[in-house]
Amino acid sequence: MFDPEKFVTEAVAELQENISGMAIIAASGGIDSTVATVLAHRAIKGQLVSVYVDTGYMRKNESEYIRKMFDDLGIEIRIVDASAEFFEGLKGVIDPEEKRKVIGEKFIRVFERVAAESSAKYLVQGTIAPDWIESGGGLRDVIKSHHNVGALPADMYMELVEPLRDIYKDEVRKVARYLKIASAERQPFPGPGLAIRIMGEATPDAAEVIREACAITEEEIENAVTDGKMEMPWQYFAVLLPVRTVGVQGDVRAYGYTIAVRAVQSIDAMTAAYSKIPHEVLDRISIRITNTMKEKVNRVVFDITNKPPGTIEWE
Ligand code: XMP
Repeated sequence: MFDPEKFVTEAVAELQENISGMAIIAASGGIDSTVATVLAHRAIKGQLVSVYVDTGYMRKNESEYIRKMFDDLGIEIRIVDASAEFFEGLKGVIDPEEKRKVIGEKFIRVFERVAAESSAKYLVQGTIAPDWIESGGGLRDVIKSHHNVGALPADMYMELVEPLRDIYKDEVRKVARYLKIASAERQPFPGPGLAIRIMGEATPDAAEVIREACAITEEEIENAVTDGKMEMPWQYFAVLLPVRTVGVQGDVRAYGYTIAVRAVQSIDAMTAAYSKIPHEVLDRISIRITNTMKEKVNRVVFDITNKPPGTIEWE
């Protein structure tokens, strides 16, 4: 049986042992990096700079959410708006692995700038076991080079410290609950953010569309769960497809993009089953998305693929 208390004690001791100067932590607000931030804060408070990077591919109102969450945890967080850099780096990039590499590299460059200012020699990351197993760390083929593992540039000068690298998502959740982290129940959000929920080029415009679609999907599903209409999915979001289809807006022909709604049940992200969302909830999601973004989106589909054969994200 996994014992969160024991894990925390050991992880804090190990962090103290491994870090002998200033360190920065990449806090994305997700459960993994928030747990890693709290552990590092406990271990080396005075030597730690916690940074949140707004990549331009974050969820709606995320910076405000992050500031409040870390305020509540008593941790000072530095928010860096690097969206222009990320948008520039992803110009013309279509391939999902290439996106992860560019994003991984941009993250590191931002962290290096922050690290240089504080003379940090260590980078703490919330990488968990499935991240590096799926990135080819184990005996398996590379499925996706999760951006915080496979895509680190070779010339990075900071030493990586990964306090969660041996545990799985359900265990991270137990640790988060034990640490009383408010966002313990928050669904996972991938490191590369909304960029990998945009099939094709992740332009600033596409980021706006998918941000809104994800926000509507999350809100409608959360409301339906609160109203007892369905079980809370493990992860739920929207994907922007580069497919344009013909539709009608009023009595005028429209030619807009397609949004796919994805919701899954899972324990540890290694396998997943698509959520059986009631049709009335899907209805509301579809109507709201197409009403809110009339000029851009005129079709919404629901993904009924399990993992395997699909993965949870589309890229
Ligand atoms: P897949 O899509 O591989 O996702 O079934 C499994 C879980 O990992 C998340 N995910 C990522 N997380 N960097 C991350 O930190 C990534 O590059 C990445 N790709 C997928 C995904 O959201 C799901 O929870």
